[in-house]
This record gives sequence, structure tokens and C-alpha cells, in this order.
Amino acid sequence: MAGISRRDLLCSGVALSASSLVARSAWGRAAALVGGYPGVASAEALAAVAPREQLLFDFGWKFQFGHGSDPARDLGFGNGQGDFAKTGDFAFAKGKFDDSKWRALSLPHDWAVELPFVRDEAQNSHGFKPLGRRYPETSVGWYRREFEIPAGDLGRRIAVEFDGAFRSVLIFVNGCFVGRNDNGYAPFRFDLTDFLSYGAKNYIVARVDASLGDGWFYEGAGIYRHVWLTKTDALHLGKWESTVRTEVGGGSAVLTLGTVVVNEGKQAENAKVSWQILDAAGKTVAAAEAPAQSIAVDGNATFTATAKLANPELWSVDAPNLYSAIVTVEAGGPPRRTRDAERVSFGVRTAVFDADKGFLLNGKSIKLQGTCNHQDHAGVGAAVPDRLQWFRLGVLREMGCNAVRTSHNMPTPEWVEACDRMGMMMMCETRQMSSNPEGLAQLETMVKRYRNSPSIILWSVGNEEFLLQEPMAEQGAKIAATMVSRCHELDPTRVVSAAVNGTNAKGVSEALDIIGFNYGLQLPDAYHKKNPKRPLYGSETASAFYTRGDYSTDPLRNTESSYDVNPAHWGETAEEWWKFYATREWEAGGFMWTGFDYRGEPTPYRWPSINSQFGVIDICGFPKDTFYYYKSWWSSEPVLHLFPHWNFEGREGGEILVWVHSNLDEVELFVNGKSLGSQKIPHLGHVEWKVKYEAGFIEARGSKDGKVVLTEKRETTGPTAAIRLTADRTEIDADGEDVAILKVEALDKEGRPVPTASNLIAFKVSGAGALIGVGNGDPNCQESDKEPKRSLFNGLAQVIVQSTKRPGEIHIEAVKEGGDGPELTPAKLAITTKKVELRPAVG
Ligand code: GAL
Repeated sequence: MAGISRRDLLCSGVALSASSLVARSAWGRAAALVGGYPGVASAEALAAVAPREQLLFDFGWKFQFGHGSDPARDLGFGNGQGDFAKTGDFAFAKGKFDDSKWRALSLPHDWAVELPFVRDEAQNSHGFKPLGRRYPETSVGWYRREFEIPAGDLGRRIAVEFDGAFRSVLIFVNGCFVGRNDNGYAPFRFDLTDFLSYGAKNYIVARVDASLGDGWFYEGAGIYRHVWLTKTDALHLGKWESTVRTEVGGGSAVLTLGTVVVNEGKQAENAKVSWQILDAAGKTVAAAEAPAQSIAVDGNATFTATAKLANPELWSVDAPNLYSAIVTVEAGGPPRRTRDAERVSFGVRTAVFDADKGFLLNGKSIKLQGTCNHQDHAGVGAAVPDRLQWFRLGVLREMGCNAVRTSHNMPTPEWVEACDRMGMMMMCETRQMSSNPEGLAQLETMVKRYRNSPSIILWSVGNEEFLLQEPMAEQGAKIAATMVSRCHELDPTRVVSAAVNGTNAKGVSEALDIIGFNYGLQLPDAYHKKNPKRPLYGSETASAFYTRGDYSTDPLRNTESSYDVNPAHWGETAEEWWKFYATREWEAGGFMWTGFDYRGEPTPYRWPSINSQFGVIDICGFPKDTFYYYKSWWSSEPVLHLFPHWNFEGREGGEILVWVHSNLDEVELFVNGKSLGSQKIPHLGHVEWKVKYEAGFIEARGSKDGKVVLTEKRETTGPTAAIRLTADRTEIDADGEDVAILKVEALDKEGRPVPTASNLIAFKVSGAGALIGVGNGDPNCQESDKEPKRSLFNGLAQVIVQSTKRPGEIHIEAVKEGGDGPELTPAKLAITTKKVELRPAVG
């Protein structure tokens, strides 16, 4: 850490006599950080500018399981030969079909998280969920919805747009098959214009088949991202064709603007495009226009222009300033009429990887303090509500993380938008590393979709393609070269890389702009010496294990101690990798595996472990102890974190390791008021003591410049006596989407959280919301994510409640379930849901 000033101490709210609470409440602080962002409207919704309509298509669906091998249980689909014989013949996508017995639900929806766990070693990576060709009953889902299209829409282009679904999707509208998608992460869309009935009811059906997977981690199942219905004029902007490229110099920025206009109308059009550049406050700060062009029927035309932005407010990690460009197409007349428009959000910044200096944002060196993350969360699986995505990024941010790698797939628009708005840099990765049509289509979609986002500083064309690195190196180099050049063509402003586990000597690496090493700390020095002109960074590092709140590695319980001492045999501890990257100027930094725990990959254990232990944050968002190692060296705040807890009944007289993560100068440890001496904190290290256990308390006093500035205490608590519920926010939007994230704890009779509590708690939720998921961060817990009860795991559990569209109050009551042990005083909490303007949605 670059030295802590008195000002940092004051800003962090830490007074000399402050208790440990401030430093310990990372979860609460992250929540506050997210709460500070006004509204969490999605990027997709923001993009729509009249006369275009972008309607949320999430509410009011019906769902039923189909069957992967028995047509009789799959709506008769595939029963004979003729399903696709005649257009318009699919009865399940017509009005007369009876779906009254289907389950009503809203999207995003992940049915995998609702399924029970199965003991099947082949499902280890997928979190022991019954998905795949051997589980036909639970691997196919049907979604159906009725919707109206007004007569006035005739003549417009209408498309259904999926932000992503898992995995193979067939779409039918009004009895007609309209298209298929075969990957789990890239968005896809179908033009419905010809298939719709205008001024009438319409029917859409999606058959989603999760029998095949894309990865080696939990992937969910179903329509787990948003769906939209977009309506545009027949003369419209091409999908994701609008680009804003910025070049900074001499106190101003030159904006290179481009777009494509498509004419799907019945006559040639003479169209003009204009750009209005707005600052974050909505003030017009520049404008540009491209000369009119004639566009033939079924043709398209590219429009370009430049604009100048005087004194631009740069986008950075600390000040994520954003601008928008409103792109407008006018035609017809005279006078011309606005036919289509959209809003493109962008930032002005430079992002340069340098072979000597690492990474420079706006010309200043900054290390990538990065984490890799999968997308699932406790209780909801892959169907993560928008607000929860912000919450997750808020927790990472609180740790001092300034960059995320979306391993190993393209993220949701909401994740990218949150990164843009929070100042979180991003390495954006595609799923399939291939130059086949599917691989290139996924890559192209990713780059086009997100190339205006300032948070993205590099593209990744893949991860650990061992065959393409070595045995098929020749093909690997060619495949990667095709992918890299496609990225350059679509986005000449960013470098392209891949996450490579190996020497980077040949194959894929030959084609990359910058070189990422997954693990292998013995490799970069030699590589740098041999290739002094190639910028380097850690594409994936660490992979160490920690069970939150647990302090012994015990293969009988499938736990890993929370001390930073358990790297995988291919990995490194937090301290090992960060010392390596932080002390080499030419290293740009790296992305540790992983920020959050995730389902599947329960390494180093197998059943009954169902989720990973790689996270420095558990799957609920509760920090583990190593979170504070990173925070010490990644943030500019003073940190003092003492562990373990001090509830080791039965181990009296035995030795307990006591660790402190801190970035102060020195720490003195006290046991029941008696000093065990002071230790200087080594740069990028930690301090530890061996302490004979006796009940009471341990206390760490951290000093800076000879003065105690932070203290932390761990006390032996009494048995659990009461439940406590706290929420990240007690007022949320009444929009049917927003969530409150509740922490559940057990307290002793003096009100202290009991860090070892494991009580089973039941939740009664009533009023203007519903429970959508529960969790506790235990990698070995096979309780349901959806039932209204959960055991505490090392003192903590989580409940996620979601608003309805009716303003009011959500009442949550937490009571002890089951007859064992002492009674606990129940807890009650009310969340207010406030009236807000709803985002435009399909009625
Ligand atoms: C890496 C891989 C990750 C994850 C990790 C676990 O090799 O890229 O997806 O599996 O290992 O250590």
C-alpha cells in the first residue's frame, strides 16, 4: 500500500479509539456502496430512445419440464418425423394450447438451482445437479407466454432478444419455428416481424435444453438472463453497430463516431445520422452529423463523423466519468422525421499495456488488482437479479479489487454496466475458443456488444486450451490469429489476450497482443527476459482454498483452514502471488482465482462438497479472512483484521494460531489483557502468533507512526440466545425486480455474534415481496436454496427477498426451526418497497 496518511484514517471513519466494527463490516460497507448508486436500470433499457421501444419481457411466463428422450413427456416434440415439415404447425405455440397447469414464473430463471443434489461423480463440476443426457427428466424446460401486439405496430421491425440462456434454445412463435441458439452465454435475437399477428394475441414458446454443457463449472439451466421485445422503424440502426472511439490529447478528446443504418422498408430512403454527446449530468457537450445517404431496400449504409470534446472528464477507477452519445437516424420528408435512435454509453480514457511499465490507465501506472469470477450466487444460481450483480461488485470493490475477469464467458449487460459505473476494469472473455462459425459468432457478439464500455481494457479469446497450446500448436496459432484479427477489426482500440496455462512458447500465444500466465510463477521472469517487448500479466493466479470461518483443514469434514496456507498444487497463496506481481514493475498485475466461491468444482474435495472453496468471499458475499490480506495491500484504507474467532471450547491449553492482516506499521497482540508483544508488519505480508487457548478475548492494537490507530477484539461468546436480521437496504424499489439482501446471525445473550453457530433458522416472508433464495456459504451444505429455511454456517446465513410491483412493506421473521438446543429469540425486519417508475415492459 502506498502509505496511509492521517487523511486516509479520517476518511475511513476510523478514530483512535474506534472498535473493530468498522473494519469488520465489509459486507455492510459494500452494501452501502451499492446503495449509493441511483437506480440500477439496465444498459439495455437505457439504450432505447423514442421512437424505438425496448420492452422488458421477463414477467408472466409459464414453465414446465419437458423430457430429453421421451417425446410423450416433451409436448410430443420429436414424436415422429414431421415436426418441421410444415411451417406454422407447432400446436404448443398457438392460442388453443392449454398451459393452465404450467407453473407461473418470472425471468431470469435458473431451474438447476431448484433441483436436488445427486450423488453422481460425473456431476462434480456442475455442483452435483441432475443435468445432462443421463437426466432427461430435469434437463429440458419449456417456457411459454401469451402477449399482445397492437395493430399500430404493423410496419415496424419487432424482435425478441435474449441476453443469454442455458443452453440450446428453440424458439417458436404462433406455431412457427423462428430459430435456435446453441451456447449458454452469448445474447441472441430473432426478428419476429413476419410471424406476428397485429392487433391480436400472440404466443411465444422456448424449448431450452441443458443436456449439453459449455464449461466445467456450474452453468445453471433455463432463461437465466433478461429477455426483451424491441420495436423499431423499418429503417433502423444496426444491432450493436454504433461505436464511439476516443482519442485523448492536448486537453481534449476526438470522438470517432460510427454506425450502420439498415433499410428493411419497402422503399429506398435518404437517411441522415446525427450524434448528440451528453455528459453525466445530461448536458449536451458536443454534436456531430454525417451527410445523408440513400439506402436501397434491403440495403444498409455506414455513417461516420467526428466530434471534439473539450476538457473531457476522464474515466478512471476512482472517477468513473461516463458520457453518452444519442445516435439518431432521420429520413423522409421534407421535413425529415426521426426514425430510430439509441443511447450509447462511453468513457474517455487511455488503457495501455507496456512491456516495461505494466499497465497504464490515463498514462498512470496502476496494477491490476484483479479477481476471476463465475456468475452464480447463493439462492439464485445463475439467475442473478441486477441489483445482486451490483452488490457482488460492491463487495469486490470494498476489498480493493479494481479489475474483474469474466471467466470463462461473456457477462451480462448489467455486470458490464455496473463495472462502467463503479470504475471496475474488466477482462472480458469469450466461451468457445475456436475460429469455427459458432466460436467466431460468440466472439463477434461479445466485442460488438461491449466495445463502447470503458471498463473493458482487454479481450480474452479463451482459457487454458491445452491442446491448442502444445500438441495442436500449429492449429492453435492459426485459430487464435483468426480470433485476434476479428477482434482488431471490430475494435481497433483494445489489445487481445488469452489465459494460458503453460510456457506461452507456442501455439495460441503466438497470436496474442499481450501474454497472460495462469499460475506458474516460475515462468514469467524467464519469459520476460527472452521477450522483453511483450507486455505480461497474470491471467489467473492463486487458486488457494479457504472455508469461511473455519480454522482447520479436515478431510473428514471437507474443510480448509482460513489461514492463507492452502494453495492447490498448481496454485499459490495470496501472499505468494501478490508479492511476485507487486514487486515487478513490468508485470501489469493479475486476476486471482476467485473473488467469490461458486457452485461446482469443489476441489480439493468431492461429494458431499457441492461448491468451490477458492473464493476469498463465500458464495453469499461474506468475506473470508484472506479478503483482508487483499484489502490491506489493494486499498488505500487502514486495515486491521484479527483472526480466528475465540470460541474454542474443549481446546483449552492447546495452541491456536493467531493471524493479523494489516497495512499498518506494527501490531501488538493481547490475550486476556496480557501483551504477547508487538510485531512489525512485513511489506505485503502478515503477522502471526502461537497462542495457548484460554477463554476470554484476544485483542490486536495496530499502530501507525507510533500511535495506536485501530484495534480489533475477538471474544469468547456464550451460547446462542437470539437471532439478528440485517439488510443491505431497508428500502427497495417496488418494481418486481429489486432485492434486499439479508444477513442472518445468532447472538449470545450479550448481543455478540456467535461465530460457530449452526442453528437451523426458518423464515416467514409476507407482504409486498417474496423470498427468492437462501444460502450460508457452506461448501458442504446440501440444504435447498429455495426453501424458506437455512442452517447458519459458522454464524451466518443469507436470505434474498424480492419486491413485487406493489409498494408496501415486506415483513421477514426469522425463527429457530426444530426442537433441539435452547430457544432463540426470533428476529423481525421490515423492508419498505417504494413506488418507482417501472421500466417499459411487455404487458
Ligand atoms: C484453472 C481454470 C479455472 C479453474 C481453476 C481452479 O486452471 O482455468 O477455470 O478450474 O483452474 O484452480
